[in-house]
Amino acid sequence: MKVLSFGSLNIDYVYAVDHIILPGETEDTGGREIHCGGKGLNQSIALSRAGVKVMHAGLVGEEGDALIQQCAQNGVDTRFIRKVPGPSGHTVIQVDKKGQNSILLFGGANRQMTPDYIDEVLSAFGEGDLILFQNEINLLDEIIERAYAKKMCIVLNPSPYDDALSVCDLNKISYFIMNELEGEAISKEKTPEGMLSFMKEHYPQARTVLTLGCDGSMYQDADGILQQGIYEVKALDTTAAGDTFTGYFIASILKGRSPKEALRIAAKASSIAVTRHGAIDSIPVLSEVSSSML
Ligand code: RIB
Repeated sequence: MKVLSFGSLNIDYVYAVDHIILPGETEDTGGREIHCGGKGLNQSIALSRAGVKVMHAGLVGEEGDALIQQCAQNGVDTRFIRKVPGPSGHTVIQVDKKGQNSILLFGGANRQMTPDYIDEVLSAFGEGDLILFQNEINLLDEIIERAYAKKMCIVLNPSPYDDALSVCDLNKISYFIMNELEGEAISKEKTPEGMLSFMKEHYPQARTVLTLGCDGSMYQDADGILQQGIYEVKALDTTAAGDTFTGYFIASILKGRSPKEALRIAAKASSIAVTRHGAIDSIPVLSEVSSSML
């Protein structure tokens, strides 16, 4: 089985701030760091660090060599990444004293997907292969249609949630991995139980993972609902914690772990990620996760 991560690659401009800036306010920052990131790239690297062979498909701009190098240095197969005219995707990320973040996203090259490029990439995949994506690239609806026609296992992390997802046929998704905000946007429900009940009723074909911040995570399939608490740590920076969770959860399932074990491993991996600064830099390798679970 081949694993394809089809998603964004961003340059993250990360600013340390006292508090997330308010409307109309000007705030001095405590410094800036520049990192490679993007939910797609982060999740590819999380999968790779969790021990899965993964190919990344995505677009970078003229200055995007560092993003491709990051993939390669982390064992991610880069054969499908293409360079296009114009700038790469980038973000402006504020991280406050409690480690909470706020992200301003510029799509750049990530929004230049074309049907031809999608066909070129997917021509290398077939029945039973897994495709993972988020919502930082354009033409998600086309990717879903084509991947479904090929009978691939489709994993959607609907992050960040916006209107582009409303034109996607979510009946074709095999796994949803989402947080409470995304769960509420999809279901219009306010409680985790309500969200899962909506998912079961409307998308009975799918398994759903719901992450709940300090309240841990939940998993639902035809057999019922599982719950996982958090590992308590002092959070420095929550950037990419969700991406780490997604990568480790999927990697664990691919390696034959039960959903219960996969939730536990993903919770541990993301608890390590929040104790570190940055996106890619914060994602642990498998040996760190395993040794801290002994
Ligand atoms: O999930 C974290 C990521 O979201 C950052 O790396 C940033 O690029 C944004 O896409």
